[in-house]
Amino acid sequence: MKFFVDTADVAEIRELATTGLVDGVTTNPSLVAKAGRDFREIIAEICGAVPGPVSAEVAATDAAGMLKEGRALARIADNVTVKVPLTWDGLKACRALTGDGTMVNVTLCFSANQALLAAKAGATFVSPFVGRIDDAGQDGMELVREIRTIFDNYADLNTQILAASIRNVTHVRQAAMIGADVITAPAGVLQKLAEHPLTDKGLTAFLKDWSATGQKIV
Ligand code: G3P
Repeated sequence: MKFFVDTADVAEIRELATTGLVDGVTTNPSLVAKAGRDFREIIAEICGAVPGPVSAEVAATDAAGMLKEGRALARIADNVTVKVPLTWDGLKACRALTGDGTMVNVTLCFSANQALLAAKAGATFVSPFVGRIDDAGQDGMELVREIRTIFDNYADLNTQILAASIRNVTHVRQAAMIGADVITAPAGVLQKLAEHPLTDKGLTAFLKDWSATGQKIV
């Protein structure tokens, strides 16, 4: 299972990348707006910091415009993954970009049928937005489960399920149990994965006992 970090904050990405546990990065226009910097510069810097896929989203809404923007983004670095919305135009752009050999992340997926279309359009990744479905009073993880079942039914559907809009550690565990290929989450959620009060308690006890031995390892 791959872990992507969902942010356009380059310093945050660099810090997290030192763990060796970041397999890729996803950005979106809202995250870029929050970063308040030049989009292309941000993407170039992230691509230099993380060798894995880095999603950069188009702003055009027509297929030709998405293709033009997507090709420009893809020229920034080999690990750019062009992110297109799950619309008919997005699917057309996905097919063309995939034909170029560019990785594509089809985003804003809210139904299993949409995911099926993304896979048929040759998407590298499809992004079901778990948290936003939860926000709407439904079960976002159920969508991930449905997509997993569908993709597993057909050997020719090779699109990776990128569980997005992941808001907490329970989402990560559930996505892993279902078999999502990737999760993308804010840095804070990824950092929380290592935390457990019994780990802290056990470590405190071990350190106290070790100190009593008066020994040093090196
Ligand atoms: O990058 C797409 C997705 O992860 C957004 O998450 O929390 O804004 O719904 P969120």
